[in-house]
Amino acid sequence: MTICSQGHIAYRELHKKPALLRSISLGKLALKNRVAMAPLTRRRATDDYVPTEIMATHYVQRASAGLIITEATNISRQGTGYMNTPGIYTPEQIEAWKPVTEAVHAKGGKVFMQIWHVGRVSHPLLQEDEKLPVSASAIKAEGKQKTPQGHMEMVVPRALETDEVPGIVEDFKNAALNAIEAGFDGVEIHGANGYLIDQFLHDASNIRKDKYGGNIENRSRFLFEVVDAVCKAIGPEKTGIRLSPSGIFKDMFDSNPVELYEYVIDKLNQYDLAYLHILEPMVALEPAHKYEKYLKEVTPHFRKFYKGLLITNCGFDFRSANKIIENGHADMVAFGKAYISNPDLVERFEKGADLNPWDVDTFYTNGPEGYVDYPFIDEKK
Ligand SMILES: Cc1cc2nc3c(=O)[nH]c(=O)nc-3n(C[C@H](O)[C@H](O)[C@H](O)COP(=O)(O)O)c2cc1C
Repeated sequence: MTICSQGHIAYRELHKKPALLRSISLGKLALKNRVAMAPLTRRRATDDYVPTEIMATHYVQRASAGLIITEATNISRQGTGYMNTPGIYTPEQIEAWKPVTEAVHAKGGKVFMQIWHVGRVSHPLLQEDEKLPVSASAIKAEGKQKTPQGHMEMVVPRALETDEVPGIVEDFKNAALNAIEAGFDGVEIHGANGYLIDQFLHDASNIRKDKYGGNIENRSRFLFEVVDAVCKAIGPEKTGIRLSPSGIFKDMFDSNPVELYEYVIDKLNQYDLAYLHILEPMVALEPAHKYEKYLKEVTPHFRKFYKGLLITNCGFDFRSANKIIENGHADMVAFGKAYISNPDLVERFEKGADLNPWDVDTFYTNGPEGYVDYPFIDEKK
């Protein structure tokens, strides 16, 4: 009897579906697994920021993900900072996204659009009439940006006037409405990785004296105005947000990042969002003294603060992804680079198959190579 019941438990343990491959509800959607495709900029849109046919092929190849989150998508011409990235602010762009959402849905997939304003991470050569990029404050980010005239040093941005900020909130709202019109299941507000929302949040890039600067409440005001407007426009169950609490990409720095994000993440509980998507540190936090207040393990810490569905990302594989879901620190895991090179990542996880390596050289090149030609399982390249 004992042997039999132990054997039964062992059998069940052995055949239990891995946590990552179990279904889950997100907003009103039923997702077939807990694997998310992380947002990945690939620069395959036209020179006028219009999605191309090849993008539909790319996304539909990855439709077995529980949730696809698209590449960051410009909410306005002003919010644009990378060549050949798609937008969602003109009728032509909305139409051009429709084949993407239709193809993914026809395959049983679900897809959110990541909506984006780059703020200072742009260049006059990428702006209309060569205007200065805008930001919370007139503080430059280090580094270069690719422009039609080659790589150029980033410039000191223009600090937004207080009465200009509601216009950008409106652009986020309209982008969300446009995304729904294009057939998306929802949107992810890009609040991570050093772009405009992040530039407002962090005290090294925001030295404003108005209601959008100063204490944490003020620095996060812009973020919450965006969240509020998008939720009211399309519904909180269709709204997600991405944050990088230990992110230092594009010169981000805060003197007290843990307190900042505890405040923001706790307050996000007031909205019944589809999800919060947080990133583990993407870059090594060196030198130690500057980043000593930064968390090296982000997800377990903020799980204690956030009550809704939590997606985590950065550096996970099948084993560590299952583990973080099983121990309750996250509900879903997003995969970035693994999705670049493995359109059938879920099937590979199911079968325990090897993953294709990714090719960094074709991350941002125009055209099909390294974009729609990675082999599926059992298919030779
Ligand atoms: C080519 C490339 C493009 C990316 N584009 C975006 C983007 O558009 N939006 C975003 O939030 N993160 C972007 N990221 C970050 C990824 O979403 C992800 O956080 C990162 O790759 C770490 O996850 P991984 O370890 O699973 O690759 C990009 C990363 C790569 C490699």
